[in-house]
Order: sequence, then C-alpha cells, then structure tokens
Amino acid sequence: MRLDPPSSDVPRGGLEEPTVRPVVGRRGGMRAVHRIAWLGAVLVSCEATEDAAPDLEPARRDYALYCALCHGDEGQGYVADGANALAHPDFLAAASDQLLRRAIVRGRQGTPMSGWGLEWGGPLDDAGVAGLVALMRSWQTRPNLSLGTEAGMGQPGLGEAVYAVHCEHCHGPRGAGSTYMSLADPGFLADASDGYLRYAVAKGRAGTPMPAFETTLNASQIDDVVALIRSWQRPLDGSTPALPSMDISDALLNPGGLPPLEFGLSDRFISVEQLKRAYDAAESFIVIDARAPGDYVGGHIQGAVSVPFYAVSDYLDQLPTDVWIVTYCGCPHAASEAAADALFAAGYSQVRVLDEGLDLWIELGYPTEAGP
Ligand code: HEC
Ligand code: HEC
Repeated sequence: MRLDPPSSDVPRGGLEEPTVRPVVGRRGGMRAVHRIAWLGAVLVSCEATEDAAPDLEPARRDYALYCALCHGDEGQGYVADGANALAHPDFLAAASDQLLRRAIVRGRQGTPMSGWGLEWGGPLDDAGVAGLVALMRSWQTRPNLSLGTEAGMGQPGLGEAVYAVHCEHCHGPRGAGSTYMSLADPGFLADASDGYLRYAVAKGRAGTPMPAFETTLNASQIDDVVALIRSWQRPLDGSTPALPSMDISDALLNPGGLPPLEFGLSDRFISVEQLKRAYDAAESFIVIDARAPGDYVGGHIQGAVSVPFYAVSDYLDQLPTDVWIVTYCGCPHAASEAAADALFAAGYSQVRVLDEGLDLWIELGYPTEAGP
C-alpha cells in the first residue's frame, strides 16, 4: 500500500488564511438541516475565523443560485441524487484546484453535473469558476494531502472481479455512474492521479455511502481496482458543444391543439406516461429543459426548448401564460422544480414538473433528439 501519510506541513493550494464564516441559512439563523458528523467539524472551524473573510460574496451568490439545489447549501451533498459532498474534508484534502476547476467548467459526462463554464453553455466565466473553487477551499478543514503522481502497479484484469463484487452496484458498469457518482469521465481521470483514486478507495468518504475499503480489500486488490479505473481513461477532446438558440418563440407544440387533458388533474408533478399521452394526442403545450444548455445539446425530450432554471426570467417574454408548461431535468427534479418555482413566482399557474425526469423518459424509449 503506497498511501502517502497525511502531512500537515504541505501548503494548502492557493490558500492564504482560512477564509470561512459561520454557515448561516440564507434567511438567517442556523438551518435545521440534518448534519452528518464531519459537517459539525466544518461548522466549528468556521466559527473561529469569521473576521478573515475576504470577498467570497459573489461566489456565495453563484453557489446559492447554481449549485446548492443539488450539492446543498453548505456543500453537504445529496440534495439531488448522486450530487456528492463537496465540503467533505477528505475530498477537499485530496482534490487539486485543477480537478475542481475542470469539474465545474466541463461537468461530468452523462451525469446530472452540467458544464458551468461559458464555453460549455454555462453562466460562469473564469473569475466565476475561480471564485467557486475559492469558496470550496474555504470549507476545507485539513491541509492538502500529497498523494503522488506516479502510476500504480495494479493489474486491470484482476481489478474486474473486485469491481464487480464491491463497486459496480453503486458506480455502475465500467464506472458510468449509477446510484452514485461516475468514475470514468475523461476530465475526472485526467485530474485524478492513481494516488487520488487509491486514497478514495482505501479511506472511503466517512459519513457518505462510500465505504473505506482498507479493511476489506488488501493493498494489491486496491491497486488492481485503481488500475481498472485508469484503463477506462479516454483522451480529452477539446471540443465544446454548439449552444441552443435563445429564441424560443416557436416553443409551443401543436399550436391550435387542445390543452392537455390530464395536466390539471395532478398538483405539481406529472408522470412521464402523462406527458407521453399528451404528445400522442397532439395536445398543445410547451416543454422546458431546465438544465444548463450544454446538457440540452447532448440530448433532450423531443420538441423541448432550453430554458436553464437559473435564467427563467430572461425567457418570460417568449413564454405565454395561457398554455401548459412542463419542466424537466435529469437530476431527477432539482433543476426542473427550481424552474417551475420561478415560473410560479412570475405569475404562471399552468406549470407542471416531470416526475423522475429525463432518465425515465429515455429508459422507456420515448422520443428524444440532440443538438442545438
Ligand atoms: C454503497 C455505495 C458505494 C460503493 C459500494 C462504492 N462506492 Fe465509491 N463512492 C460512493 C459515493 C457515494 C461516493 C461519493 C462520496 C462523496 O460524497 O464524497 C464515492 C466516491 C468514490 C470515489 C471518488 C470519486 C471522486 O470523484 O472523487 C472513488 C474513486 C470511488 N468511489 C471508487 C470506488 C471503488 C473502486 C469501489 C469498490 C472497491 C467503490 N467506490 C464502492 C459510493 C460507493
Ligand atoms: C443538477 C444537479 C447539480 C448541480 C446544479 C450542480 N452539480 Fe456538481 N455534481 C452533480 C453530480 C450528480 C455530481 C457527480 C457527477 C458524477 O457522477 O461524476 C457532481 C459533481 C461535482 C464535482 C466533482 C466532484 C468530485 O468528487 O469529483 C464538483 C467539483 C461539482 N459537482 C461542483 C459543482 C458546482 C460548483 C456547481 C455549481 C456551479 C455544481 N456542481 C452544480 C450535480 C450537480
């Protein structure tokens, strides 16, 4: 086992003084959320350093607007399925700024984590991304680890059996992601060294579903599964998606058709079957893809238009109030609910959220299309 010991004299990448403030709910007062053990430690360390806060306010605003709906107000994770704990001390101590930055800019292929960089259709320029990295660093409670960059000695073939028994039910076939995070994204594997992977597998992420395997697997089994994950790495291609048009004036499907019979029967959500029946009956409605635009381009429900949940107000003049509007996302309904709430707040009443979202739609083989 070649885990470098945690050492306290390693400088924290790009950090000056600890820059955290008490974590307080947006409406004031400590939020009565369930906190897992490690978050308590974060909060305690926060109280002590209130004065040192430089200007993280813009990043806090960005985080609250773009990230909290999935990763939680304080980075605790799991508000949306699979959205990991960004404030986890072991994650932050192991992850380089480069890993954090690239994850934010490009997102993670085939997962609900969108690309948030401008070139990926997101709202964040370089300064915005750097601000979010600094905000995450301000949650860090332990110094960065030095996990080494040298390649491991494991054998991917032997890792297959370990992976099938111990990992696949959570991380999916070939690390594609399933109940929990993906492990095969080309951006992730470009930035996560073998040492990073080995540390995550050995230590797990206490307080999350990720077990520590140092007691159940021996050192060479861990090396083998790390080598297997490494064998999934693909070169990063530099291409970025062509982005959807902001002109959505033709969003209404089947103009002149009847309003959907079933949408008014339920309260907030409609099922994918109900939406499919409305398509089949050529009823008239609008479908909004509430994810960041890069995700829309990668594949969306047929006839849907791109209206990111954080930019709904930019599209109101193109969205009539007297037709039914359905919002969806892939997470499975964090972003779609945020978009629906923005519409309700703007005075719309005929709005429904697609329950279970895009993944179930695709699973059932219902029609999708891709492109801008
Ligand atoms: C019970 C579900 C579960 C099992 C089993 C599991 N994991 Fe995980 N794994 C997770 C979760 C959840 C996370 C993210 C935890 C967090 O929020 O930080 C994770 C994180 C990871 C990470 C870090 C990913 C990153 O982006 O930082 C690696 C690497 C990893 N797992 C590898 C494995 C391997 C290899 C196995 C099998 C030996 C395994 N996991 C078994 C749930 C699981
Ligand atoms: C729609 C839900 C959603 C939103 C919104 C979202 N994320 Fe994520 N994020 C995820 C999921 C799910 C993952 C795990 C991806 C995977 O399976 O690899 C993730 C992964 C990440 C990772 C990689 C973590 C690791 O262990 O490697 C970082 C960093 C991250 N998100 C930061 C952000 C930031 C910053 C924002 C806001 C700009 C944001 N996310 C917005 C769902 C979301």
